[in-house]
Amino acid sequence: MIEEIDYKLISEDEIEEIVTRIAAEIDREYQGKHLLMVAILKGSVVFMGDLMKKVTLPVEIDFMKVSSYGSGTASSGSINIHLDLQRKDIGDCDILIIEDIIDSGRTLSYLVDYLLLKGAKSVRTCTLLDKPSRRTVEYNADFVGKIIPDEFVVGYGLDYDEKFRALPYVGVLKPSVYND
Ligand code: IMP
Ligand code: MG
Repeated sequence: MIEEIDYKLISEDEIEEIVTRIAAEIDREYQGKHLLMVAILKGSVVFMGDLMKKVTLPVEIDFMKVSSYGSGTASSGSINIHLDLQRKDIGDCDILIIEDIIDSGRTLSYLVDYLLLKGAKSVRTCTLLDKPSRRTVEYNADFVGKIIPDEFVVGYGLDYDEKFRALPYVGVLKPSVYND
């Protein structure tokens, strides 16, 4: 393990079990629907890549890039959209938003409303990780990989300052890395 990681929170094997379980849930729930998975860049790319391979239904993919408007604890609820869907007509799409982690809940609650307003047939959400203790907006995802405590985690797509995304596991970052 690399020295910036305090401990492994979710191993490669556990991630594989989570992805397999969620793919089976998606297969059940999206029978006969027009599934469009939308990954929120960049953190969800690794998760969606693995997940889409295990879903046996036909699946289309698209991407969005968003950021919180303002930073830190400012909970205005505004989200900045840097990259919107490539597909313009989503009236026949059952969208499943793929997130790496839910923290305050602001990103997903905003995006669900945004995509419904844009005319999606349905919008549901799937997150690898969930930190429910950090919510400022009431929001629960439809598919959840694992509930975790309030620790800053990296790996399997998640970053600190653009680093550590390529780790194959999810680890807790040593506080010294972001306190120095
Ligand atoms: P929120 O739910 O709107 O607060 O946004 C969640 C976003 O915050 C995620 O998509 C991540 O980009 C980021 N985030 C929250 N917690 C962590 C963490 O522990 N590690 C890395 N990124 C995080
Ligand atoms: Mg993110």
